[in-house]
Amino acid sequence: MTSPAIDSMQLNSFTLRLSDISSVDLEKLHALSMSVGWPHRSEDWQFLLEIGKGIAALDDIDRVLGSAMWFPYGDDFATVGMVITSPRLQANGAGQWFMEHLFRKIGDRDLGLSATRAARRLYLSLDFKAEATVYQCQGEALEPPVVALPAESVFRPIQLSDLAEIAVLDREAFGADRSVLLGRLLSQAKGIVLIRGGQISAFSLCRRFGRGYVIGPVVAPCDADAIAVVRPHVAEQAGSFLRLDTREKSGAFAEFLARSGLFVFDTVTSMSSGRHWPPASDSKDLNPRIYGLASHTLG
Ligand SMILES: CC(C)(COP(=O)(O)OP(=O)(O)OC[C@H]1O[C@@H](n2cnc3c(N)ncnc32)[C@H](O)[C@@H]1OP(=O)(O)O)[C@@H](O)C(=O)NCCC(=O)NCCS
Repeated sequence: MTSPAIDSMQLNSFTLRLSDISSVDLEKLHALSMSVGWPHRSEDWQFLLEIGKGIAALDDIDRVLGSAMWFPYGDDFATVGMVITSPRLQANGAGQWFMEHLFRKIGDRDLGLSATRAARRLYLSLDFKAEATVYQCQGEALEPPVVALPAESVFRPIQLSDLAEIAVLDREAFGADRSVLLGRLLSQAKGIVLIRGGQISAFSLCRRFGRGYVIGPVVAPCDADAIAVVRPHVAEQAGSFLRLDTREKSGAFAEFLARSGLFVFDTVTSMSSGRHWPPASDSKDLNPRIYGLASHTLG
């Protein structure tokens, strides 16, 4: 027998309107990402708003109930991220609606994104293809294991004047031109470059993000070089919360992360629309490859 109703109300009668995300109050966006358990600080949102574009969904009384952003890299590629529907509205078609609007704004570009489990079905229905698994490794950093530097190599702190050279490496590894993003990151991150034969063979950046620090991007031709540019950051952050997102499932780099206290916390899926992204890579061919993502959102 059903209990008699004391009172009733109609839920999900929200009328949403879309606005340019740059016109929306930062703290409301921050509250939205916290509502789905994401670790972004206001400062992390601020950075994304400065480098990306997007839309936000508001209700009649200006509560922010959704967001979606994109980040152009060069003329023909972008990543999509910060796609959020407020928990109270999920599974009602809002995510699909945001993405259709975003696609109209983005125009004719190839796209890449990191899909959470909750979002996979949404992106598959929009013809994105699953390409690779990303392992979100994090934890309280330990004093990293001692490792020998690769032969004939030295490392030093990154300098602003390294931008052009690291942008070339990054482009080869990432498959699109991220020089604008790298320039912005250089102004707020610490970085390491590995030099061999007078040229930069690998680099890494480390910045404040979320609950602590994130190491990324990390670009290197092989595990040994990747470890060489990541190790100094781990040593500096020992005792702090540290994160690195990588597509390396096993091998020396993945083992190094685990021995440094960074364990797999979650996974997301790299997905592409248009050309394959990220580009296929193999540590045996010694071409630069992405060992650490800048972030899920930025690729
Ligand atoms: C992922 C997210 C944006 C989807 O938004 P939404 O408004 O619920 O999406 P829609 O209602 O348009 O649903 C799109 C599809 O995903 C499915 N879906 C929605 N929520 C889901 C969930 N939690 N688990 C599995 N599938 C889900 C829907 O059933 C629908 O599939 P269908 O068209 O085959 O029926 C929302 O769940 C969210 O904000 N999650 C937390 C943050 C997040 O993970 N963002 C994605 C970053 S990549």
